[in-house]
Amino acid sequence: MKDLQFRRHRRLRGTAGIRKMVRETHLHPEDLIYPLFVVEGTNMKNEVPSMPGVFHWSLDLLDAEVDEVVALGIPAIIVFGVPDSKDDIGSSAFHDHGIVQKAIRQIKANHPDLTVIADTCLCQFTDHGHCGVIEGGKVLNDRTLNLLAKTAVSQVEAGADIIAPSNMMDGFVAAIRHGLDEAGFIDVPIMSYAVKFSSAFYGPFRDAAHSSPKFGDRKTYQMDPANRLEALREAESDMEEGADFLIVKPALSYLDVIREVKDFSGFPIVAYNVSGEYSMVKAASQNGWINEKEIVLEKLTSMKRAGADLILTYHAKDVVRWLQENE
Ligand code: PBG
Repeated sequence: MKDLQFRRHRRLRGTAGIRKMVRETHLHPEDLIYPLFVVEGTNMKNEVPSMPGVFHWSLDLLDAEVDEVVALGIPAIIVFGVPDSKDDIGSSAFHDHGIVQKAIRQIKANHPDLTVIADTCLCQFTDHGHCGVIEGGKVLNDRTLNLLAKTAVSQVEAGADIIAPSNMMDGFVAAIRHGLDEAGFIDVPIMSYAVKFSSAFYGPFRDAAHSSPKFGDRKTYQMDPANRLEALREAESDMEEGADFLIVKPALSYLDVIREVKDFSGFPIVAYNVSGEYSMVKAASQNGWINEKEIVLEKLTSMKRAGADLILTYHAKDVVRWLQENE
């Protein structure tokens, strides 16, 4: 054995102290963005059946939840609205008194320093459940763009700090940038869902947001999960159109795409750890089949290792508590 030549990698794994010294990737509370679902009505704190631990909040109960997020040191939330009234163009998305606008006003009044991101899409607000205007059974691209710009402007007027357009029409970043600039909001950043795949991992969110399409699917606007180079083209066009952050969604099955988009763009990258990724972990841990804390910390660390700067995740509150425990 004396003449064998090899490297002793285990030297750097020998103690917790040494492992910590050579750890390359760190997860911090400030990396996290927490999603909140807001609904009309009063006295509602309804758990989403397919997403244990995630609730629909009516505005009268929302303050305590937001206070908790702030107290934990999570710097940003993203607001999803579940409206009462829907129509063919999703007009409650851009009403001054829409559920999202009301929620943002209330949150910013209590927590001016909390960064509030508005998801800008129409699918929760349209009666057909698609993300754009429909004609002859088709989702129309260009006619949808001005509705998105209107929605973004109304969200910023309500106090949103960042606009996150998620609807995957071509030119949506250009249209929203133009709309915001015209309205004088030149300094409001756009966090674009630049690379959004047509994914079965959104299933629980659609239960939560009541946003399943009533006919067809989203394959004519969301990306084919098989495509990598197309993700770079999508990222490139959003960069040209004025995006400030790029979201890759979902995260877990697309870590390779996160890495490539990061290297290609040099932009701040957000990984969206979507509903189906959350619910799978919850279901398995409720069965005692996995260790929830370890699995979640491993997954989120992997997203950062892949190149994500920020992670949008339903686990955010638990993650902060677990990081504190591990200190
Ligand atoms: C709406 C939207 C979706 C998600 C975020 N914004 C669903 C969809 O495209 O059907 C999914 C989020 C998740 O699954 O956690 N455009």
